[in-house]
Amino acid sequence: MKKILITGGAGFIGSHVVRLFVTKYSQYCIFNLDKLTYAGNLENLKDIETYPNYTFIKGDIVDTDFINNLFAQYQFDGVIHLAAESHVDRSIISPLDFIQTNIIGTVNLLNAARFTWETNREDKRFYHISTDEVYGSLGDEGCFTEQTPYNPHSPYSASKASSDHLVRAYHDTFDMPNIITNCSNNYGPYQFPEKLIPLFINNILNNKPLPVYGKGLNVRDWLYVEDHAKAIDLVFHQGKKGETYNIGGNNEWKNIDLIHNLIEIMDEELGRNKGASLSLITYVKDRAGHDLRYAIDASKIKRELGWQPSIQFTEGFKLTVKWYLSNEQWLKNVTSGNYQKYYETMYANR
Ligand code: NAD
Ligand code: TYD
Repeated sequence: MKKILITGGAGFIGSHVVRLFVTKYSQYCIFNLDKLTYAGNLENLKDIETYPNYTFIKGDIVDTDFINNLFAQYQFDGVIHLAAESHVDRSIISPLDFIQTNIIGTVNLLNAARFTWETNREDKRFYHISTDEVYGSLGDEGCFTEQTPYNPHSPYSASKASSDHLVRAYHDTFDMPNIITNCSNNYGPYQFPEKLIPLFINNILNNKPLPVYGKGLNVRDWLYVEDHAKAIDLVFHQGKKGETYNIGGNNEWKNIDLIHNLIEIMDEELGRNKGASLSLITYVKDRAGHDLRYAIDASKIKRELGWQPSIQFTEGFKLTVKWYLSNEQWLKNVTSGNYQKYYETMYANR
């Protein structure tokens, strides 16, 4: 049986990837390594936690000895690396956490994989999940391609750019079987309500102000999280060693337009008068170094691997809103901090 290590599997995207792999590949042993920071929530994986091919390991990718021992013990065949500090606003407040996890943590994994796969690495994979934010900011025209030079502006994107460079350098220098994908903004179930969409859903639900940064004119390219997970599955199995693939939704929205759309759906779902929640919009001071526009050219992964998004935005956005509204307890547990007790309760006797 192949042993696949997925890092950051208790987070937003990681939980979708773990679920997909555990349910689709009974012939793989899936190991989910996660530190369970504020962003890691094992409630995201309640439905699959008892599957025989799934193992959760609590641990920190920054801890070199722990990572080396883990690889020596399990001899993983593949790594899908999603663990990261992922929120731009937090990176402005405390950049060092991002340097530690996103850079040092990635190098720890690279080193451990390199030594574990010293003799036979033909059928091995080290797959690093990254972001379009490494490319910087676009003007009104054009899209990021795999050739766009890196130009990160936040400590988050700079730390991800650094880890991408290191993954590439380990391929070039040590002939490691590395692959990188850079994806646009994801949305969907289980996203921590500090990011725009779940934060605003929670605030509309609770009649709290919606803090729009600057004039709300920044543009993001939104992709439904399950389409990202499917792309990760495809790239892990069919992507070429040493390659980079961009993944995106071809679905650009100005923040303020997206927020108006969200309010319309939420007011309807909550039985409020049309436009009732518009008054919650509150323009606040802009984010420092706020990138104006992200947009991905995903033609390479479409052409070479046949991937394309399957969920249209109108459908995915409604699904997302309905999911948060029918999982209010999840939202309450996350916002109250109760979800952090789940690990102690669930794993106390293991
Ligand atoms: P997230 O913040 O929801 O989850 C991150 C997970 O990593 C959490 O479970 C957390 O506990 C874990 N983690 C953090 N530090 C760790 C450490 N030191 N050791 C072990 N585990 C640790 O993030 P996400 O939005 O799911 O993003 C996952 C990955 O995808 C990240 O690498 C991110 O850069 C990338 N990405 C995210 C988006 C997006 O829109 N969210 C888009 C493109 C790429
Ligand atoms: P976010 O979800 O943090 O993703 P990223 O910054 O990684 O793209 O933010 C998406 C957009 O929404 C971004 O332009 C910043 C903006 N934003 C707000 O206007 N208000 C908020 O409270 C948040 C969290 C984000």
